[in-house]
Amino acid sequence: MKKLSLSMLLLLSIGTFADIKKGQQVFTQFCANCHGDKGQGLVGPNLTDKEILHGSSKAEIEKVIKEGVLAKAMPAWATILNDQQISDAADYVKSIMGKNLKNGFVAVKTTVSSYPKGTLEKPYLIRTYMPVNGLSDDIFPNHGKGGDVNKYSPRSGKEDPKKVQKPIPGLPSTITVNFGPKLSYTFDTLECRLLYTWSGDFLDMTNYWGKGTGGNRSRKSYIPNIMGDINFKTSGAHLFPGKVQFKGYRKENGIPIMLYKAGGLNISLKITPGKNLGEAICEYRTDSKDAIKLNLPKGMTSKSGQSLSPSEAKAFSLIIKGAK
Ligand code: HEC
Repeated sequence: MKKLSLSMLLLLSIGTFADIKKGQQVFTQFCANCHGDKGQGLVGPNLTDKEILHGSSKAEIEKVIKEGVLAKAMPAWATILNDQQISDAADYVKSIMGKNLKNGFVAVKTTVSSYPKGTLEKPYLIRTYMPVNGLSDDIFPNHGKGGDVNKYSPRSGKEDPKKVQKPIPGLPSTITVNFGPKLSYTFDTLECRLLYTWSGDFLDMTNYWGKGTGGNRSRKSYIPNIMGDINFKTSGAHLFPGKVQFKGYRKENGIPIMLYKAGGLNISLKITPGKNLGEAICEYRTDSKDAIKLNLPKGMTSKSGQSLSPSEAKAFSLIIKGAK
């Protein structure tokens, strides 16, 4: 009796092993593109980690393989693979569950994360949507008041005239920079204006980029969240009232310098962290030949006050005090 049960066991395990082998072949051919060659995850999720969304029983795995998760780009395989192949693939998936393989992306040490970071030496610059952050409408005379838009379907490549969407409630045209915990800022390229600065952590880009390496970005919003403490928000009229036009930016030793026209002047603006946490030094250069009067927003100070002599107007610094 003892012998029999042992050989039965052996038979069983050999059978399972063969299914896993066959399942592995199916997996390599149809699934590895997305889930990685060993199931460790690529554009599709890691199947070997603890995060199991759709169940770990064989029946549940078969179901998700058959039906897919169309909303999340997991294809349905019922019409492509036969029942045996699906069963084998499910056996293979079950056999790798819990192996906790390192995601391929992690293995190659990518810097892809939803929390980008810069440093003092190598600031990080991103053109991104940003939240309005409580700034009043009159800061944004050059932003169109985006009306409702027809819903676009990436699948058909067409707009649906019946479905209407509100425009995204953020600022679409910012350049946002991080110097590490000391200073981050958002410059609006439509208004040619420093909007706000903060210190501490930079941005949570999950709304835009999705979570981790598995994608899954929220479709509701492209607007990242500011993670640190806001030190400055602009207010009142533009520093140089008049027409504005963004000309781009260049980098000087890795530090971005905004170039724009405002109030008839060519202006460059370099913003760098000061000594204290959250302190910002805004160095302006202009081609002004005359004295100018600045419209200083609250929280920005000038050594020479608001009225600059012709020589001061060519190059001056405005300071934003940091956190207290
Ligand atoms: C085009 C990319 C793609 C391919 C090809 C693909 N998958 Fe997926 N798969 C995904 C994505 C994306 C998800 C995540 C679904 C979700 O978030 O709900 C997923 C989820 C799964 C899950 C559920 C994981 C869980 O956490 O519960 C299993 C199991 C799975 N896939 C198995 C397979 C198998 C087996 C194949 C091949 C027959 C395969 N997948 C092919 C993209 C893919």
